[in-house]
Amino acid sequence: MRQWPKEGVPLLFEQGAPGRGSRFVEDAGRPEDFLDPALLRRRLPLPDLAEPEVARHFTRLSQRNFSVDGNFYPLGSCTMKYNPKLNEAAAAYEGFTELHPFAPDAGAQGALHLLWDMQRWLSELFGMAEFSLMPAAGAHGEITAMLMAKKYFAQIGQPERHVCLVPDTAHGTNPASAAMVGYRVVAIPSTRRGRTDVGALRARLDGATAVCMMTNPNTLGLFEDDIVDITRAVHDAGGLMYYDGANANAIVGLTRPGDMGFDLLHLNLHKTFSVPHGGGGPGSGPVGASERLARYLPQPLVTRRGDGGFALEWDRPDSIGPVRAFWSHFLAIVRAYAYIIVHGVEGLQANSRLAVLNANYVRARLKGVLSVPYEDLCRHEFVCSAEDLKRATGVRALDLAKGLLDAGIHAPTMYWPHVVPECLMIEPTETETKETLDEFVRVLSSLVARAREDPSALAALPLHTPVRRVDEAQAGRLANKGIGLRWEPPAADASPNGT
Ligand SMILES: Cc1ncc(COP(=O)(O)O)c(C=O)c1O
Repeated sequence: MRQWPKEGVPLLFEQGAPGRGSRFVEDAGRPEDFLDPALLRRRLPLPDLAEPEVARHFTRLSQRNFSVDGNFYPLGSCTMKYNPKLNEAAAAYEGFTELHPFAPDAGAQGALHLLWDMQRWLSELFGMAEFSLMPAAGAHGEITAMLMAKKYFAQIGQPERHVCLVPDTAHGTNPASAAMVGYRVVAIPSTRRGRTDVGALRARLDGATAVCMMTNPNTLGLFEDDIVDITRAVHDAGGLMYYDGANANAIVGLTRPGDMGFDLLHLNLHKTFSVPHGGGGPGSGPVGASERLARYLPQPLVTRRGDGGFALEWDRPDSIGPVRAFWSHFLAIVRAYAYIIVHGVEGLQANSRLAVLNANYVRARLKGVLSVPYEDLCRHEFVCSAEDLKRATGVRALDLAKGLLDAGIHAPTMYWPHVVPECLMIEPTETETKETLDEFVRVLSSLVARAREDPSALAALPLHTPVRRVDEAQAGRLANKGIGLRWEPPAADASPNGT
């Protein structure tokens, strides 16, 4: 039996042997017979593999991965909650999977009904006038909303507004999205309480202000308790408020960005509404808009006709236009739809409360193990800092993260937000049991204790993961030069099977 090397699994190109597989493909004729040869300029030395080799290869790779189904995954700001299998059953329904992207509205009424419901439900849950389900993920939602803001200011005759205010705790995609539409990004500092400094924000407001992008709860897991003052001040200055809804898992059913005064927002259905993400599937980043901005939403929207039927509405003259082909990531939306139906409003509220309770439970238990820089109760996530530990022992947040991986626990988000040195951002989510949370605290506490006894022991971790510590300096250098990830056949034998 093949012995798998400790580090790395052979590529499919390094497996197989001539004549092993693909018989039925060959019988179907050579590709040249039914494809335009001009399209076949790239000739790849494809490996000849039997089906079990392929199945085992991919199964083995999947087993080397961390996943929410296999491991606790407290990756802050990413909301790695469990994805109910019922969602998958809904998404596998053949009325959805077999639906042709060019199906006329009359032949897709069920799917359009679902999209229309979703537009209405999200509008209701988040206090918006209308939603577009087209953006493909969170960052795509952000740029969609920034384009809407730009068009709005152009139409009301204020194209000179070009500044986007972003708190210094913001996710990197916020300033990036603003910069991509040509806005100048101005960072707003946080206070010692981990909230946006309202005085500093007010001082930056003027006739150039276009948008203020905020996450609430912010990325320190803290609710911005001055949010109503902030939205009022920005509106008084003629600007718009944008809500980064990636952190909505703390608020669904409990409070609404629309009621806080936000004009635009994106959601991450793949986080809050339990759609597999990361390596697990495509995301979905719907954008909501208040009454005065709804007309700029991407087209098409789904509308309900007078006769009760549903249609894609293309005739929206002020829309920024399409941002994605066909119906975007339709099956991701179906999964989120299933999640909402199964839970109902009370279930969604209960999940938000439990997410907050779990985060506060872990936070309280970790006090005294690591430093917890903000005193207030957190929402769905919190940050702690390994700065004191590093000063005393040299052991860093990164070392603790590697130790957690060794114990079968995914590392928290590290070194972000930048305002907290040696930061670990922990988001347990509502789906974890008390036993899992206790085990996490136990493992992290024992790593910290070990660091104090024998700091060098942590530098050697992880010992049991398929890939040990990567050389980050080397990775950084390669990234600067452009990482070469292309497979090359071994020099002696130009193709793996001699073909
Ligand atoms: C606060 C915040 N905003 C925006 C995003 C971007 O979302 P996406 O990864 O779906 O593009 C993320 C993703 O991690 C996030 O945590």
